[in-house]
Amino acid sequence: MCGIAGYIGERNSPEVLFDMLERLEYRGYDSAGVMFIAGRKINIIKDKGKVSEVRSRVKPERYKSDIGVAHTRWATHGVPSKVNAHPHADCKNLFAVSHNGIIENYVSLRRELTLKGHKFQSDTDTEVISHLMEENYKGDLLTAFRESLDVLEGSYALAVLCVKEPNRILIARKESPLIVGLGKQENFIASDAPAFMPYTKEIIILNDFEYGFVEKDRVEVFDLVSGKKLKKQKSKITWDVKEAEKAGYHHFMLKEIMEEPDAVSNALKASGELKKIASRLKGKKRVYFVACGTAYHAGLTGKYLLENFGIQSEAVVASEFRYSTVDTVDKDCGIVLISQSGETADTIAAGKRAREKGAYVAGIVNVVGSTIARLVEDVAYTYSGPEIAVASTKAYIGQLVSLTQLALYLSLSSRKISVKEFERLQKELKGVSGKIKAVLSDGKIREIAEECAVKKTFFYIGRTLNYPTALEGALKLKEISYLHAEGYPAGELKHGPLAILEEDVVVIAIKTGRHLEDKMDSNIQETKARNARTLIVAEDGEIKVPRVDVLLTPLVNIVPLHLFAYYISVLKGLDPDKPRNLAKSVTVE
Ligand code: G6P
Repeated sequence: MCGIAGYIGERNSPEVLFDMLERLEYRGYDSAGVMFIAGRKINIIKDKGKVSEVRSRVKPERYKSDIGVAHTRWATHGVPSKVNAHPHADCKNLFAVSHNGIIENYVSLRRELTLKGHKFQSDTDTEVISHLMEENYKGDLLTAFRESLDVLEGSYALAVLCVKEPNRILIARKESPLIVGLGKQENFIASDAPAFMPYTKEIIILNDFEYGFVEKDRVEVFDLVSGKKLKKQKSKITWDVKEAEKAGYHHFMLKEIMEEPDAVSNALKASGELKKIASRLKGKKRVYFVACGTAYHAGLTGKYLLENFGIQSEAVVASEFRYSTVDTVDKDCGIVLISQSGETADTIAAGKRAREKGAYVAGIVNVVGSTIARLVEDVAYTYSGPEIAVASTKAYIGQLVSLTQLALYLSLSSRKISVKEFERLQKELKGVSGKIKAVLSDGKIREIAEECAVKKTFFYIGRTLNYPTALEGALKLKEISYLHAEGYPAGELKHGPLAILEEDVVVIAIKTGRHLEDKMDSNIQETKARNARTLIVAEDGEIKVPRVDVLLTPLVNIVPLHLFAYYISVLKGLDPDKPRNLAKSVTVE
């Protein structure tokens, strides 16, 4: 949800910053901008549009500068426009501010600053920070920064520069991610590590309520409350830069779908951590899976997996959990947060509230070192590698594998399954990678997508373990094709949706699993009787999937639905990697 970047060093900062923005674009892409110091003044190049469009218009190679901050935007306050694009300056063009987050008290701050004579250019909440810096700066940059941060309410990751001290970039973090990349005689600042992966893999992660500055050969971080200087640990990114590039595919989404077989084997690497989490969940009166979007659908699958073994559990979307369900939570509950990015604001808040209530909180997370990974007591990484396309695909597979393992460990230790059954399922789980490969090599799904791309309404139906698959299949299609798609429990069709079924509607029935097959058959007959184009996902369906154990069907059934959504998006001439109005990492409430 907005990507921020900063650079200081011997390279040409406008060019480096546009490179970084291109890698951060999954966080937002309605406008982009860079502010840098050259000729002792702040230069601004920003505009509405995707990073590549803005880059080709402003031509950063025309400039020369060794320090700058940048931003790629996902609008919250103020429509996407040149004037609302970040970074933002103050009245005198002394400061440049790049911000991710929301300043909740910006209306009152703006009123006060206006009364003091400040003139605002944009409708954004961020611009108050530039004017606060201008107001507070009396010759000491860090003091002015701290005084400005003290009055801000809400969330922020900030990169700020000042023309009067052109050797440093100020940084601060509260509830929005910020990482410093350490180079030789150069340093980088970004919302996420892929931004600077071609340049360095050595990083420092900022925590909430930390602020400081970055020079080309020095980084200093302080505690915002005590003002004390902190000793920050350096860490190393283990991802390879190639993993964050398209590797010959037209889109990241297709590349990431093709990486789904590896997502299975990678997630299996965390079995030790999952075993530990299972041992802590054992005996809890209830297990909650808490997440947003696709990760929530993985959590809902987790609930059905545990119920299958007779273990009580719930899946709740984080934005509901944090304001209601959490009130019923106590030390006898176990909470599993699920998140690809590890930075989703609602999931973070839900986890914090659950910890305050004394619950045990664990995480299944993809991004190593992310906020959720550090917030929980125990974390199992999915190790899916960087996921860049906004619509989550391989990370979902990783989450499902982790949840299946967790369910197996928990049911084994709770004596709900025998060792023999446990070992059989573990072996089958390892074999799923090959089954997914087989689905990916079937060309039929593209033909089906060609036929369906002209339709306007899609229903995805499934039961129990594959009800979340139906929700996720529908979510993928609506996210990237802008078509009306709904996931439904198959048994609920007759309680409403049947009324709108007709020839022009597509129904995708996820039938596999030999589980409640007769029931699904009846539902399929109901949709066919209304002339809906009905596609069946089954071993012998029009959308074919290989035979696996019932518990593992969500892992193979979603794969053709990922491809289906991808092809429809491309056939409609859309960019599946960057759906309108969406962002990959939702760091605001
Ligand atoms: C956004 C993304 C989704 C993702 C959801 C949760 O809505 O577009 O793809 O599933 O956030 O994100 P998380 O990083 O917590 O899994």
